[in-house]
Amino acid sequence: MKIRTMQKNDLKTVYQLGKSIKELRFTEKIGFWRKKNLHKWVKSSNDILLVAEDKTQIIGFLLSMVHKHSKSAIIENLYVKKEYRKIGMGRNLVEECLSRLKKKGINDVWAEINQRNRNAINFFKTIGFIKGYTFVVVEKIID
Ligand SMILES: CC(C)(COP(=O)(O)OP(=O)(O)OC[C@H]1O[C@@H](n2cnc3c(N)ncnc32)[C@H](O)[C@@H]1OP(=O)(O)O)[C@@H](O)C(=O)NCCC(=O)NCCS
Repeated sequence: MKIRTMQKNDLKTVYQLGKSIKELRFTEKIGFWRKKNLHKWVKSSNDILLVAEDKTQIIGFLLSMVHKHSKSAIIENLYVKKEYRKIGMGRNLVEECLSRLKKKGINDVWAEINQRNRNAINFFKTIGFIKGYTFVVVEKIID
């Protein structure tokens, strides 16, 4: 199993996986990224987009965005397929991301997690993240 930079060829799989994961939704309307956003994003040299692979199969991914001005980064999405959980893939994805961010001079990293997603909250605590404040997402569709 290995972790590598996400490529254009991976987008279809990452999109299909991302859309199907309820934990990655923010509101009824705000779900996973649109295909066209992912297409632009994958070209970015600023952000860290990773996939975990078993032979040629994508088994997980991590998408993070760097905020240049605040010198911080957000882990927007992290996912490991159910059958590959609890063997260190999530940790490996985050550690690879942190190591790449450090090389860019970024040392403040955070993630937003639904408060009902105890699994992910516990995972992040286990790997050394500290729980911050709890927020409520508000949304308005401008028509
Ligand atoms: C959260 C998630 C990425 C964790 O991936 P994973 O590959 O199972 O995690 P790892 O095997 O790398 O676990 C790393 C450590 O966290 C611990 N951990 C993992 N899940 C845990 C849980 N539910 N509760 C407590 N600890 C947990 C592991 O025991 C391990 O500890 P250790 O290294 O001391 O043994 C995975 O469960 C997932 O994809 N969930 C659905 C998507 C999601 O909720 N994403 C987060 C929102 S951004």
